[in-house]
Amino acid sequence: MNQPVLALPSRHPVVIQFAPMNNQHFLDTAVTIAHQTGVMLRAALGSAKEIEHKSSEIDLVTQFDLEAEKLITRSLQQAFPTHSLMAEEGGNTANHGSDYVWHIDPIDGTNNFAHGIPFFAVSMALYKDNLPVVGLVYEPMRDECFTAVAGEGAHLLHNGRKTAIRVTQAKRLVDSILATGFPYDRHTSDLDNIRQLTAFLKQAQGIRRMGSAALDLAYVAAGRLDGYWEFKLNSWDVAAGVLLVQEAGGVVTDMAGRPFALSPKVSLVASNGRVHETMLATLSSQPVSTQ
Ligand code: IPD
Ligand code: CA
Ligand code: CA
Repeated sequence: MNQPVLALPSRHPVVIQFAPMNNQHFLDTAVTIAHQTGVMLRAALGSAKEIEHKSSEIDLVTQFDLEAEKLITRSLQQAFPTHSLMAEEGGNTANHGSDYVWHIDPIDGTNNFAHGIPFFAVSMALYKDNLPVVGLVYEPMRDECFTAVAGEGAHLLHNGRKTAIRVTQAKRLVDSILATGFPYDRHTSDLDNIRQLTAFLKQAQGIRRMGSAALDLAYVAAGRLDGYWEFKLNSWDVAAGVLLVQEAGGVVTDMAGRPFALSPKVSLVASNGRVHETMLATLSSQPVSTQ
């Protein structure tokens, strides 16, 4: 299927060029939308936020999450009217019969954003028949866009340059920096990641809690982190990041080592592959790790 991308001003005969609807076109369109969203989020970072609470008192949403999501979903709908959208703040459209679904997190790292901490991302991924096609994680403050196309590798777009990214070579946890996060129901749930954190703290070179699952995964893909684990994430947190890690040569599984499959709630381990077994062993040594 082709899509019109350019029309000349009306006093000229209308000439429409067609761009093929291939994976690169899907990604390029998403990159443009992410950059536009980033302009809005950079400007909004220091301004007053209207904060509301969602699943718990520590699960926040601001007016900018909603605005960003509106911008993204409207633009995607315009570009790909037959695709379905699954977006965090409820901007979902189901196009029955469409095999293509966009998974969208307009601000991953909302708590950082709400507190003026400049570390958050726009995450967008296109899946076909529940398998990843393209993904991007865009970090507006550094203007870093991590991208992947299934079967074609992962890249970092920055300063007009496109650079291939790869996972690290570390083989031991003692040489590894790992990242994690903690679920929003941790005040009331036993599966709060505290035991797992302690176990990894005792073995790894360092642990980070940066506040954006999408960027944690992008950083594993880019070789800035060696591994990452987290429980009870949503599909939109990880849909793009998982493809980044896989295309950068890394491995993503569930807590029991089974291949990652996208579902509404996911717990996952992502790594450079070399420390994966050790990470799984550490997690399985903790009583609630496979719940
Ligand atoms: C959250 C962030 C955080 C992770 C949470 C996510 P949000 O997403 O990715 O790092 O620990 O589990 O829900 O709420 O900022 O979009
Ligand atoms: Ca998120
Ligand atoms: Ca979010």
